[in-house]
Amino acid sequence: MPRLFIEEYTRALTGKTVCIACREGILRDNFNAVIEDLKLLNRLKIKTALYHNFRNRFANRRYFRLLADRLPETRIIRVQPEYDFYTHVLDHEENVHKLIFLERKGLIDHLGHKINSVTTQGVRQSIGTWGDLISNINFKSILEHICAKIDSGHYERVHIVPAGKDAIKYELFTIEGHGTLIANNFEEQFQPVASDGDVRIIEGILKLYKREGFLKPRTQNYLMEKRGHFYVTLIDDIVVGCVEKKIIDGRTAEIAALAISSKYRNQRLGVFTVQAFMDTLRKQGYTRFISLTNNPNLKKLYETMGFKLCERSEYLDRQIISPGVAMYFKQIP
Ligand SMILES: CC(C)(COP(=O)(O)OP(=O)(O)OC[C@H]1O[C@@H](n2cnc3c(N)ncnc32)[C@H](O)[C@@H]1OP(=O)(O)O)[C@@H](O)C(=O)NCCC(=O)NCCS
Repeated sequence: MPRLFIEEYTRALTGKTVCIACREGILRDNFNAVIEDLKLLNRLKIKTALYHNFRNRFANRRYFRLLADRLPETRIIRVQPEYDFYTHVLDHEENVHKLIFLERKGLIDHLGHKINSVTTQGVRQSIGTWGDLISNINFKSILEHICAKIDSGHYERVHIVPAGKDAIKYELFTIEGHGTLIANNFEEQFQPVASDGDVRIIEGILKLYKREGFLKPRTQNYLMEKRGHFYVTLIDDIVVGCVEKKIIDGRTAEIAALAISSKYRNQRLGVFTVQAFMDTLRKQGYTRFISLTNNPNLKKLYETMGFKLCERSEYLDRQIISPGVAMYFKQIP
């Protein structure tokens, strides 16, 4: 079960509106799960709205009653069946922080991998290759509409999430998320670790990559003890990446424990984090940077940023500690 960071993630949602849109068949099949997730958001004082398109039939009356009874704090909007559900939702909400479409399946790329986060430009570039893999064909045609609404500022964050037990909870309160996030205004910040909550999220991010074996495991005690050496990258005030500073000598710092939450990978946050780290350390007088890694993605990242593979004698002591691991080096003015 993914680890939940309710307290940390709620801070960014308090006072904002999360709007859930779920078609009749999907809502009927996941009724209790959706109610439980919405109740959690309401308990956390996050404003909620639920769009559905249950037909106004006698057989559905029990659903209307249950929604009203169990979600008194949620604004419930029924879309008449004669309207296109998605168009109606997209055209009727204004200034919503998050709009979550609950679907049968999530979005996947041409290799079958879940698409974690993408900009509207990314959607437009890739939609051709996603092709028929988007399980719900109607939904594919609506993606352009979603992008237009994000571009025009009506929605900040649109999520497409496969419906199921805890689906919304996992999407909003875990590091890796559960579906796809489409947004443009990712504003990254870089800063030293500020709280115990930051440390807990760093621990969670590093754990995500334990299996890949490129990162040396760091215990909670280590992280607590060394928290003053860690920096974080934030989006929406939430930690999404980290890096550890290790001082090698008077002018050299090592870039260690670099990791970006899987939800935000390939959005150039790795580059941002390394650049921000160097800019910050430059102000502290460091002009030389090394990093040791066997992760092929990180090697490419360093190469694109002008780092060079090195075997410099002054860093031999450091290299000996990690035999067989490639060392990258960059000097800045
Ligand atoms: C390695 C890592 C930090 C990269 O972060 P990221 O935010 O996904 O990377 P970026 O989007 O900034 O990528 C920039 C460049 O890195 C390289 N790169 C990153 N991910 C890649 C991938 N999956 N495949 C190929 N190249 C990749 C590319 O050169 C890319 O340039 P491009 O935009 O021209 O393709 C991230 O994937 C991660 O956290 N990995 C696991 C942790 C880890 O192993 N850390 C290393 C410890 S030694």
